[in-house]
Amino acid sequence: MCGIIGVTGAADALDILLDGLERLEYRGYDSAGVALVGDGAIFQARAAEGTHSVASLRAMTQLAPVTQVAGIGHTRWATHGQPNETNAHPHLDCSGAVAIVHNGIIENHLELAESLVAQGHVLASETDTEVLAHLIEDRLRDGVDLEEAVRRALAVVRGAFALVVMSSAEPDLIVAARRISPLIVGVTEQASFLASDIPALLDRTRDLIALEDDQLAVLRPGSVVITDLEGVLVTPTPLIVEWDLEATQRGGYDDFMSKEMAEQPRAVADTLRGRIDATGGIVLDQLDLTDEQLRAISKIVVVACGSSYHAGLVAKYAFERWARIPTEVDIASEFRYRDPVLDDTTLVIGVSQSGETVDTLQAMRHAREDGAHLVVVSNVVDSSMAREADGVLYTRAGPEVCVASTKTVAAQMVALELLALHLAQVRGTLEDATLAEHLVALGELEGLLTIALDRGDAVAAVAEGLADASDFFFLGRHAGFPTALEGALKLKELSYLHAEGYPGGELKHGPIAVIEPGCVVVAVATGGPLREKMLSNVSEVKARGATVVIVAADGDEEVASLADFVLMVPGTDELLSPVVDIVPLQQLAYHLARHRGLDVDRPRNLAKTVTVE
Ligand code: M6R
Repeated sequence: MCGIIGVTGAADALDILLDGLERLEYRGYDSAGVALVGDGAIFQARAAEGTHSVASLRAMTQLAPVTQVAGIGHTRWATHGQPNETNAHPHLDCSGAVAIVHNGIIENHLELAESLVAQGHVLASETDTEVLAHLIEDRLRDGVDLEEAVRRALAVVRGAFALVVMSSAEPDLIVAARRISPLIVGVTEQASFLASDIPALLDRTRDLIALEDDQLAVLRPGSVVITDLEGVLVTPTPLIVEWDLEATQRGGYDDFMSKEMAEQPRAVADTLRGRIDATGGIVLDQLDLTDEQLRAISKIVVVACGSSYHAGLVAKYAFERWARIPTEVDIASEFRYRDPVLDDTTLVIGVSQSGETVDTLQAMRHAREDGAHLVVVSNVVDSSMAREADGVLYTRAGPEVCVASTKTVAAQMVALELLALHLAQVRGTLEDATLAEHLVALGELEGLLTIALDRGDAVAAVAEGLADASDFFFLGRHAGFPTALEGALKLKELSYLHAEGYPGGELKHGPIAVIEPGCVVVAVATGGPLREKMLSNVSEVKARGATVVIVAADGDEEVASLADFVLMVPGTDELLSPVVDIVPLQQLAYHLARHRGLDVDRPRNLAKTVTVE
């Protein structure tokens, strides 16, 4: 959630830090800071101007040292302590000779702070992070070098960290360590870099390595040495980065969200590419599960958060109907606390565009302890989850910068449905002809998405008609229910309007009490056996004065009489329809947010990657 950048061996270190921080802004942040070693001391600048902090830093850094040997920078999203300048990173030790930035949470920071204060240390901030600077200062007093001091400090720390440390005593050295929170290092002939995210480094180098848990990196100009926390050398695996920097930029659209919604057809096509062979066989070569293991699966459990959870709900219908495997879908942050029943015939699937969401990562770790097979559906190659799972199924949506997920959700749904068909193929639960039809339907989604996206002007007109509304209910049934949940999530996160998603049949068990004139009900009624029942639910809210918007499949003339507004989408296979049906709901949320003058790419209080529990 916070962003990190660091460099040693570049004369323009400050520019590299500020450019890198700008590229990390999409993660969401409330303050930012840099520290540079040069002219024999550490220079520190911090700003807490919300999303303008990096711009403020640029203005503050004329006083930076002329000779810049190394530097570290950070964008912070507050977890402990207010989002103010004092709490912004980098943090210094008492002497001002050690500077650190940190992502994650130090769980035992209170007890550590108490003992440090008792020893005479003065802690300036309310953060959990600052204790690390003083712990390292304390170990340096034992006469060891910075690398050893970091190791010794980490030995007493509990929690998650991507930690980066500099000292004016060893000016061209940066020491970094990782546990749970991601950290990438890169190197060129002259300089070495590190960052929390790949895009921050792509214009500097493509020689990248993702640190693994409990690894420590020693960066000097042009060299990186990686060890475990005990100091044993490890041979890192280079990261393969297929994205270019251009792909992380807006490409002519007003904002990342528009660009990324428009990329959905390609995201889906790329996710399917090369995974269906000439004979109709489904090839998921990184799953790392034998056909025998796939046939032995007795239960699937999907663990995920937010939009990825909704993709998991869509997949449940496919796993059960096509592969006939009982499937549970859990909100990852709840999963391990319910004592789930798992064994070596359970397939646990983590779904996460970032592959770094800590709740999902921890749910997967819990599942591993109980002996389940782990597969992750991730959009980020070599993400933490990808490295920990037995197998991976990468979505190939490309980098998603907008905080609101769009193209990655479409790609997740398609990847999961392909996996369901693969299971059906291996287990023989579908006729060959039926399976072939579903594969054809999957292949057609690219074109259907393009048609749905091209109708954006019609959605903008509906949004105009709803501009004064402030209460929205999204209803769906069967596979339309997760679509309704995702439509409500998109609307609330982007427009800050009240929005709830419900199964249509549940309405009369409570929520209908709040339906009155002024409420907007958005009903997903694109087909399937429950379309009639969905339309009955619509009649119930219409009778109570709600304004009704219906998402309907092309050719469905009947809905017009029930609706104030109709959003038409091309029809498709019932279980695949969420991939298409969500498009007008994304666009509706987008236009309502724009109408309210809001920043669609960076909604308030939210971050792109949630690496705290
Ligand atoms: O990176 P993940 O897919 O694991 O993220 C999970 C959620 O935080 C995420 O899906 C979030 O709900 C969406 N960005 C909202 O649009």
